[in-house]
Amino acid sequence: MNATLIKPDIYWVGAIDWAVRDFHGYMTPNGTTYNNYLILDEKITLLDTVKHDFSEIMLDNVSQLIHPSKIEYVIINHIENDHATSLDRIMAFAPNATIYITEKGKKGIARFFDISSWNIKTVKTGDVLNIGKRNLLFIETPMLHWPDSMMTYLKEDKILISQDGFGQHLATSARFDDEFIECASISELEDSVIDYYANILMPFGNIIKNKVAEIQKLGLEIEMIAPDHGIIWRRDPGKVLNMYMDMATGKSNLSVAVIYDTMWHSTEMMTLPLMRGIREEGVDCKVIKLRATPMSIAIKEFWKARGALIGTPTLNNKMFPSVAEFLQHVAGLRPKDRITGAFGSYGWGGGAVKEAYEWLKAMKLQTVEPGVEALYRPAPEDDQKCYEFGKEFARKVKEYHAQFK
Ligand code: FEO
Repeated sequence: MNATLIKPDIYWVGAIDWAVRDFHGYMTPNGTTYNNYLILDEKITLLDTVKHDFSEIMLDNVSQLIHPSKIEYVIINHIENDHATSLDRIMAFAPNATIYITEKGKKGIARFFDISSWNIKTVKTGDVLNIGKRNLLFIETPMLHWPDSMMTYLKEDKILISQDGFGQHLATSARFDDEFIECASISELEDSVIDYYANILMPFGNIIKNKVAEIQKLGLEIEMIAPDHGIIWRRDPGKVLNMYMDMATGKSNLSVAVIYDTMWHSTEMMTLPLMRGIREEGVDCKVIKLRATPMSIAIKEFWKARGALIGTPTLNNKMFPSVAEFLQHVAGLRPKDRITGAFGSYGWGGGAVKEAYEWLKAMKLQTVEPGVEALYRPAPEDDQKCYEFGKEFARKVKEYHAQFK
């Protein structure tokens, strides 16, 4: 993919990773991109780099426009490996370039590179860098999603370079939202935003809410949001801002995700009457088997629904391992504003459903108790119990959901 003009004298010079499917444990069935940007102004300025494996592609893209030795300023908005590990390649060409980075970012890159000969200037929110015809405003965004993170606003061009924020793991030849929607669909794009938020940004809802409000308060006119992953928002940048605000303030679907695993299909058999009960109350329902579903997709489905029912057989008096792994992931993402319950089968003494409830309560999620348990194989009376529990759970989900309107 060639360097791509995004506004006069501003180019995307990043790389498309069509093949990545495991992004530090997060499944990326659609691949991703590592976006970075080059501004041809009096001071030639590079914003971010790319994952090291793709540094040659980035250098090739830059070289289509200028020789990399001409770069005078490098802005590092975020030091995570997928964005900053090609910095040494740039500095090898342009050893006198000045790097602009947050204080925490400077401490971080010192762990990756020998920075003793590099000219580094630390910046904070409100600092402005003039590069000729343009002024770049820095906005720190700590914990969105690393301590070092910041965004850069190009004042004259009204572009927010938003690093991971508002990004999507989406490998596509389209560089802009309108191009992507034309060849794919808006729902696919929205789903990618939700997937990214659920798996990476879920713990930071309050910070996101405050930061988006702060950006809105600064009164910045934003014509384009250019993240470091996925497509650039130029058709409707307000859309992704609103999506983030909605997710950060607890918006979700009036639906239930039934997320389970099974040993000999008994727990699986319980999902059918549960689903019937949920549907009977007019609530949508999706059933997800953990061993058949990548973890990050199960997390996304959990996040999209207001309610979640966790199904687990008992194995050695404990939850089934794949269910425990799922709840471990969910706990780390610190979800809020969800209502939950549990069900499952057992052969001897049981214990998994109790343990699932302990986990859900430890996460401070609302629970509907008791759940349903079936010995060995669900009998017709167990089916009836599941159906009734599905109905009860769906009613509770509707009541709980009404608070968020
Ligand atoms: Fe895309 Fe936090 O790195």
